[in-house]
Amino acid sequence: MAKEFIMQMRPWFGAEEKQALMAYMDEDGFLTEFKKTEAFEKSIAQFTGAKHCVVVNNGTISLTLAAMAVGVETGDEVIVPNYTMVASPNSLKMFGAVPVFVDVEPDTLCLDIVLVEKAITAKTKAIMLVAANGRAPRAGIEAFQKLCDERGLLLIEDAAQGLGSYYPDGAHTGTKGLVGSFSFSAPKIISTGQGGALVTNDDGVAERLKRLKDFGRAGGGNDIHDSLGFNFKFTELQAVVGLCQMDKLADRVVRKKQIWQQYADQLANCPQVKLFAHDLKITTPWFIDALVEKREALGAYLKTELIGTRVMYPPITQQKVYDLAGSFPIAENIGKNGLWLPSSNQLTDADITRICDVVKDFYA
Ligand SMILES: Cc1ncc(COP(=O)(O)O)c(C=O)c1O
Repeated sequence: MAKEFIMQMRPWFGAEEKQALMAYMDEDGFLTEFKKTEAFEKSIAQFTGAKHCVVVNNGTISLTLAAMAVGVETGDEVIVPNYTMVASPNSLKMFGAVPVFVDVEPDTLCLDIVLVEKAITAKTKAIMLVAANGRAPRAGIEAFQKLCDERGLLLIEDAAQGLGSYYPDGAHTGTKGLVGSFSFSAPKIISTGQGGALVTNDDGVAERLKRLKDFGRAGGGNDIHDSLGFNFKFTELQAVVGLCQMDKLADRVVRKKQIWQQYADQLANCPQVKLFAHDLKITTPWFIDALVEKREALGAYLKTELIGTRVMYPPITQQKVYDLAGSFPIAENIGKNGLWLPSSNQLTDADITRICDVVKDFYA
């Protein structure tokens, strides 16, 4: 039998989503957000243990709204890791706030708190902590909360990669900041095609988020506007899919951890590939991230063997659109040597063995 191409990632929808969409189309024709969206928000709030959840159309605008809702304004500085998806800083650029880049910890790939402290200026308003591949900073979230309290800063959590991951005290990733953000884009552990969710325990922040995404409307269905708002609403179609995906989340969390462990076991005797560690008790690895030798050649070889990979994010400061000076050794090293191996939830045990064997063949 011909070998199939193993993609680096692939969203996973099944018969359940298809049937639920057809059933919804039979029962209602508005498609705009309503009861299914409310049910999806409720299910995310329950899963994460947050008091409020507000969904929006993607996990970039969610960060923009998060920053606006907590009070970040044009010209304010926000500290952001230099290793992250470009959406994290771009969400601030959207309304003229200023991302200030700081290097990450070498093992967790999350913000290095010592460097964060050094980067704080009179203009700093917030810290955007990114849960890199679901991980929490080694310094501990409490250290970030304390720093924010002491320096009068707001803590925003970009937990786009963190659904199913927790802090050591059992709190879900994204729930320790004033507001936390998730993404349901195609590569995420659950997807609605596009989509984002905001969680908060603060009633005022939740209220501002609801208004910001809905034209600043004072109440459902009216045209009274007391505040500025836009249109970043969800749809019932996404919510119908999202509810089915939420039913599958617990199983996917278990499988993601098994997948990571199988890679770790099978690549343990391959010194050229160093997986970034995970504490599987609390973290759900979103992608299989590693520092590898001869990255480009390995990626090309895997491709000829029908195995997809993806190079990890280069430092944001080196992206042409930013092009900023500065020394960020950890982010720079990831940018040169970081590789994501196939990471989709659908990977079988046989797929993982095939991938690891090809990786070992390459170095042999
Ligand atoms: C850390 C991080 N932040 C934000 C985003 C943006 O999410 P979206 O693609 O839903 O806009 C992503 C998406 O990959 C991400 O990984």
